[in-house]
Amino acid sequence: MLNKIVAFANQKGGVGKTTSSVNFSAALVALHYRVLLVDLDPQGNATVGSGVNKETITAGVNEVLQEQIDIEKAIISKTEAGYALLPANGDLTVAEVALLRKPAQESNLKKALNSVRENYDIIVIDCPPSLNMLTLNAFVATDSVIIPLQCEFYALEGLSALMNTIDQVQRTLNPSLVIEGIVRTMYDPRNRLSTEISAQLIVHFGTKIYQTVIPRNIRLAEAPSHGVSIFLYDRNSRGADAYMALAREFLKYHKKMPLLEAVDAVGLIEN
Ligand SMILES: Nc1ncnc2c1ncn2[C@@H]1O[C@H](COP(=O)(O)OP(=O)(O)OP(=O)(O)O)[C@@H](O)[C@H]1O
Ligand SMILES: [Mg+2]
Repeated sequence: MLNKIVAFANQKGGVGKTTSSVNFSAALVALHYRVLLVDLDPQGNATVGSGVNKETITAGVNEVLQEQIDIEKAIISKTEAGYALLPANGDLTVAEVALLRKPAQESNLKKALNSVRENYDIIVIDCPPSLNMLTLNAFVATDSVIIPLQCEFYALEGLSALMNTIDQVQRTLNPSLVIEGIVRTMYDPRNRLSTEISAQLIVHFGTKIYQTVIPRNIRLAEAPSHGVSIFLYDRNSRGADAYMALAREFLKYHKKMPLLEAVDAVGLIEN
């Protein structure tokens, strides 16, 4: 059993955290892993992108973080994409403020996830676009961080603040925290700046860069408006191929999965 928690984080907005969280989770489901996706963003994009109406949820990660409800009561056990979801909506902003008012609230998510951890092979956390109390809860709870990065002019700005925060958490609240890797998103190989920044990243971070590159693909942008993952929306798209490749690359590093034996029971895996 894999038993991993991984957070998609980058305080820069719109870099593909949610698109990656949703479709990485869906790819792992297609490979027969039991996945829980945690929406840790008050925007609730991962919730909506999983086909759940964020306005109608009565319990979510907000209540869990404030220790008002048992996590099992807040988890939606099966979304259309096949993973379980701990949903979020705007109420989560309330939790963020409430957590700041009380001391030592940075381990609340960890405590909650620990109680359900054995029910899943992988727990994926979609972080908000800031280095706030919510993201800190993610860094304390998670085993590793995947950083989605868009290869554009400002991409590297803020990366050192992110690395420093992870470093601080490593030295204090979560000594086993690691950076899993950086994944290049919305990549356009025809754009010279993209290829230059990508080359710089490889020089700086070497093997920490995932070989899998997520291309700019309109189907990935369309899928959330239908509340489904890319595998349900257009499994033949380049976006679907890319997220399946990312999931496989992640699994390869963890050496737990016999890649050739992945069974295509739901007909989602090509090649
Ligand atoms: N590979 C891609 N190709 C095309 N569009 C994409 C791709 N990845 C993400 N998008 C689109 O870019 C926008 C930002 O993506 P996403 O919401 O995943 O980023 P985010 O980092 O979660 O944003 P936020 O910081 O607001 O949480 C969305 O409209 C999304 O549909
Ligand atoms: Mg997001």
